[in-house]
Amino acid sequence: MTSAVFDGLSGSFRSSASIIASTGFLFMSFALVNLAPVDVEQIVEVQALVYPAEFCESDDVFRKKLALSDAYGRAPIAFGHRDQEFGLLVSYAIAHPWHDAAPPPLHAADWELPAVCNVLHVHDIAVAPTFRGQKLASDLMNRLSEEAQQAGWQKLTLVAVRDSWPLWERFGFRTISSHQYANEPGFWMSRELSPGSR
Ligand SMILES: CC(C)(COP(=O)(O)OP(=O)(O)OC[C@H]1O[C@@H](n2cnc3c(N)ncnc32)[C@H](O)[C@@H]1OP(=O)(O)O)[C@@H](O)C(=O)NCCC(=O)NCCS
Repeated sequence: MTSAVFDGLSGSFRSSASIIASTGFLFMSFALVNLAPVDVEQIVEVQALVYPAEFCESDDVFRKKLALSDAYGRAPIAFGHRDQEFGLLVSYAIAHPWHDAAPPPLHAADWELPAVCNVLHVHDIAVAPTFRGQKLASDLMNRLSEEAQQAGWQKLTLVAVRDSWPLWERFGFRTISSHQYANEPGFWMSRELSPGSR
């Protein structure tokens, strides 16, 4: 479902998806906010602007990924940039407990965490196209690293898709292996977290 937002510039109601897809909102100011299962509708709107359909996970899978903590009570970590005027989400970072044996599957309707979780897996970092190039992804990764360390995680993993691996290498991720994701080539990567690292 797409929500309607009053656009003060045009003086009319527009869908939130049409606003975050438009090019007239480059100068919005953002707050970094925590995300929870209640935010899934907006997360899915950003996802649809960023990825082709085969990559896009359902609301239901996202809700489960955002809800499940591991056996030690370590919760998923999720936040994004929300514009301060309209309350629209323009980016998100979502990470959840996992293990370092293999990346998690996409589209897992029966989503469950492994019995032993030894990494925080970054499911996705995405920025709506209009808002790229403003260091929002860097901001998300820095904050994610800090929160992961505070929660006691020692390792992050992710699957780099869409040729994003050079960006993650800048943050200290190294390739474990190539990994096919939604029929596209990608790289499974990891990064050790040490006190003070970003
Ligand atoms: C990849 C993505 C998250 C980057 O978001 P962004 O907010 O534009 O990134 P930033 O502004 O923080 O970029 C920081 C730096 O990384 C560079 N960079 C951005 N995307 C890059 C990419 N795909 N590959 C290599 N470098 C990249 C930028 O040029 C910038 O360089 P600079 O510091 O020299 O200026 C965004 O383009 C996106 O959502 N892409 C589609 C989804 C995706 O691929 N997500 C990653 C899945 S693992």
